[in-house]
Amino acid sequence: MREIKKNIYWVGKVDWEIREFHGSEYSTHRGTTYNSYLVEDEKTALIDTVWSPFGTEFVESLDKHVSLKDIDFVVAQHAEIDHSGGLAELMERIPDTPVYCSKNGVKSLKGHFHKDWNFVPVKTGDKLSLGKKELVFIEAPLLHWPDSMFSYLTEDNILFSNDAFGQHLATELLYNDLVDQDELFQECIKYYANILTPFSGLVEKKIEEFKSLNVPIDMICPSHGVIWRKNLGTIISAYKDWVVCKPKAKVLVVYDTMWKSTEKMARAILEGAIEGDVEARLINIRTDGITVLASETLDAAAIAFGSPTLNMILMPQMAAGLTYLKGLKPVGKAGFAFGSYGWAKGGAKEIEAYLKDMKFEILREPLQAQFVPSEETLEECRAAGRLLADKAQLLAGAQKGM
Ligand code: FEO
Repeated sequence: MREIKKNIYWVGKVDWEIREFHGSEYSTHRGTTYNSYLVEDEKTALIDTVWSPFGTEFVESLDKHVSLKDIDFVVAQHAEIDHSGGLAELMERIPDTPVYCSKNGVKSLKGHFHKDWNFVPVKTGDKLSLGKKELVFIEAPLLHWPDSMFSYLTEDNILFSNDAFGQHLATELLYNDLVDQDELFQECIKYYANILTPFSGLVEKKIEEFKSLNVPIDMICPSHGVIWRKNLGTIISAYKDWVVCKPKAKVLVVYDTMWKSTEKMARAILEGAIEGDVEARLINIRTDGITVLASETLDAAAIAFGSPTLNMILMPQMAAGLTYLKGLKPVGKAGFAFGSYGWAKGGAKEIEAYLKDMKFEILREPLQAQFVPSEETLEECRAAGRLLADKAQLLAGAQKGM
């Protein structure tokens, strides 16, 4: 329990060891935190809980610091179990305490826990008086689920933003200005890319909605990672770039390989890209994984994807990466497909179909090599890499001019 402002406490859990989130699609190599907050005024409100495995520890720890019976209101901003997991145990101890959540929150909490708690459904603008201060609720559907909502605490000007503005970063340092800034922003972009990209339009609208409310925000308290208490403009401005997938002059060459022929092509494409004045990165989909692919794609302008042909289609891990990316709906990208084949083609063509589905601007026909690429094919790969770099510069330049 740590006081973050007078009579407002962080009562969450730092999870140093989690390495996979959402099943396995999100690799959390820096761990995470589940942030829960206790607001004391004439009445006391608890905002969110922690992931289920830490439920008992959470409730016992809370009970040591504040008698559970003194909690007047529970606010459940989002039913996903990384935030609602501790509710079951908590509500067993205080079964009549009202649970404030969105209308969809009632539905999803009932679906998760099959309990008829004392739910109080709220909508945007509804207020809960704590005495001198009020919690004002703001529905935030699909940030991250249809049930998600934010809460704004008057007087202290704190926005409890649940998943928005979060990061999977385990730290005891608690605040954004105390942690390593490079690590923080790497985790922020990774989080945005892997969790929020499909809902970018709604993120943009929510930021505008807040601007139009013209309320002061001194602190943003998300449900994962650090609390934003200084330079709030940096994360808000970063979100504004990410909602449009604002491209940098950056090229990715993503590949899988069987006997290294597609790898040779990938490396030649990268050589060509490096000749342009761009940031260029090679991604081996099997060793780097899909979390890295999604994170790097967010601000990349041009991407080549390569796979050998296996059983007349593409390699399974490349299919997984492209399927994951397709669900995340990145916008404004350009690229092409490449890959080697033996007795039958198929891999590169299938990649191109994914790219078309994702509305990539297709920069050239699939670049293919039978068996092992010849020097002539590798030269064609270098030229294709230069094409990627030129396009990346063009797209990044067009954004600068906007
Ligand atoms: Fe952090 Fe959507 O849960």
